[in-house]
Amino acid sequence: MGRIKEIRRRRTFAIISHPDAGKTTLTEKLLLFGGAIRVAGAVKSNKIRNAATSDFMEIERQRGISVATSVMGFEYKDHKINILDTPGHKDFAEDTFRTLTAADSVIVVIDVAKGVEQQTEKLVEVCKMRKIPIMFFINKLDRPGKDAFELLDEIEFKLHCKVTPLSWPIGMGIDFKGVYNKYDKKLDIFDRSSLVVNDEGASILLDSIDDPVLDDKLGESAHKFREEFKLVSGVFKEFSKKEYLHGDLSPVFFGSALNNFGVRDLLDCFTDIAPHPQPVATDTRDINPEYEKFTGFVFKIHANIDPNHRSRIAFVKVVSGMFERNKYYYHTKLKRTFKFSSPTSFMASKKEIIEDAYPGDIVGIPDTGNFRIGDTLTEGEELNFIGIPNFAPELFQYLENADPLKTKQLNKGILQLMDEGVAQLFTRTADGKKIIGTVGNLQFEVIKFRLEHEYSALCRFEPVDLHRACWIGCEDKNKLKDFKDKNSYFIAVDNKGKDVFLAETAWSLQRAQEKFPDIKFYFKSEI
Ligand code: G4P
Repeated sequence: MGRIKEIRRRRTFAIISHPDAGKTTLTEKLLLFGGAIRVAGAVKSNKIRNAATSDFMEIERQRGISVATSVMGFEYKDHKINILDTPGHKDFAEDTFRTLTAADSVIVVIDVAKGVEQQTEKLVEVCKMRKIPIMFFINKLDRPGKDAFELLDEIEFKLHCKVTPLSWPIGMGIDFKGVYNKYDKKLDIFDRSSLVVNDEGASILLDSIDDPVLDDKLGESAHKFREEFKLVSGVFKEFSKKEYLHGDLSPVFFGSALNNFGVRDLLDCFTDIAPHPQPVATDTRDINPEYEKFTGFVFKIHANIDPNHRSRIAFVKVVSGMFERNKYYYHTKLKRTFKFSSPTSFMASKKEIIEDAYPGDIVGIPDTGNFRIGDTLTEGEELNFIGIPNFAPELFQYLENADPLKTKQLNKGILQLMDEGVAQLFTRTADGKKIIGTVGNLQFEVIKFRLEHEYSALCRFEPVDLHRACWIGCEDKNKLKDFKDKNSYFIAVDNKGKDVFLAETAWSLQRAQEKFPDIKFYFKSEI
């Protein structure tokens, strides 16, 4: 198959949701359709955990939340699908934001009973900022929940997404009869007693919703459904692929991931309409996936993926050209070439060494410490992919070494965890004190736990009075020096050596901004 064909058949996307809405269950059912796994429950079992899912870390097993982000690829009806798994927990939002830079579209899972939840709002905001096409899956229809119209209103109102339902539920909870798939004009009947529901053959094709088959299958519910459906057609915009691809209109599907109901409808429509790999911005130009030279960027680093081997993997999204094993590629920040002899792909059932990869694919590169999030690889061109955000942290603690005999291990561990983007390290210039900044409290526990279990180092966190840490810059080097001299106790460097201002209070930050109008304060740093 030619390169262009390979690009067009790829769908690289992320599933996002508030925790517990059903993201893991939906992922698993999608993998079942792709033949990537054979039994339900495998995503949470060791089988896949050993390969590429995010459930392998012990801390995560203890807490039942997805800490890491990983990739699962599978083939479905001539399409190569790459799912980017994202942690739902709010303390790991930064990881999710970075993963979204590698996604060409997203599916948002919403719990029918809970509706739009807080974490969904934040994540969708980022997708909208980046104009990523969004599809919604309203899950758990086998349980009682909110009225479908009310849910769609909520999505439009809280998430500012224009929606158009491409399927419509018939009943809900114990009265759940099935869904009408508007996209493919067919009826799927929900059968609680069967586990092989929503098989392709089980759908009933309908000419129109006036078809008497509806009355046979749905009995009295048919009338209510027809009334609702007419209303739906009047109230919501007709689906337009163009508007969806621009991020202006979001299709909505209803179903029950646990019962594998409505999932095939979602997947079939998704493969049909979702975008293939899209152009990505660099500091010099946008790179089109069809450009023949290889380019790619690192959006995630994961250390110690296998606790038995000290390994570190950089996740590279191929943006253009073709990635080939054992070929030399140029690392634009280090200005050095590297050859990769054992790049891996992440097919859900196993992690395997690959010979080549196409735009949209994620390649895992074993790394000995050369890569950082945001790094660019090319065939020699000087360019850097942009838009991978590093947010100014809001929670801070001093990092203290609790076992001086393990100082080396602590320093190594902390630097590796920072490269992974778990948190940010600021070293205060005045006294060399190390401050860890995070977006959530859980990260402190993750750092402590991982330092101990992966690096045999012990640390202690102590409170520090800090309001914000923001990156600073000024075109006039003398003015920047003057600012740093006058605020010397509040100046630090991040682990890439960038200047940072540590503001003790909101007031001190405001005062610094007013007193030094030429200094720029950044609350987001691009990696
Ligand atoms: P998450 O990744 O978004 O956090 O959610 P996850 O898939 O883990 O699902 C959260 C809970 O919701 C799980 O139950 C799961 O079985 C249930 N669930 C998912 N989809 C459906 C559905 O369509 N209908 C119903 N009724 N439940 C659904 P749990 O008891 O927390 O976990 P488990 O013991 O089943 O693994």
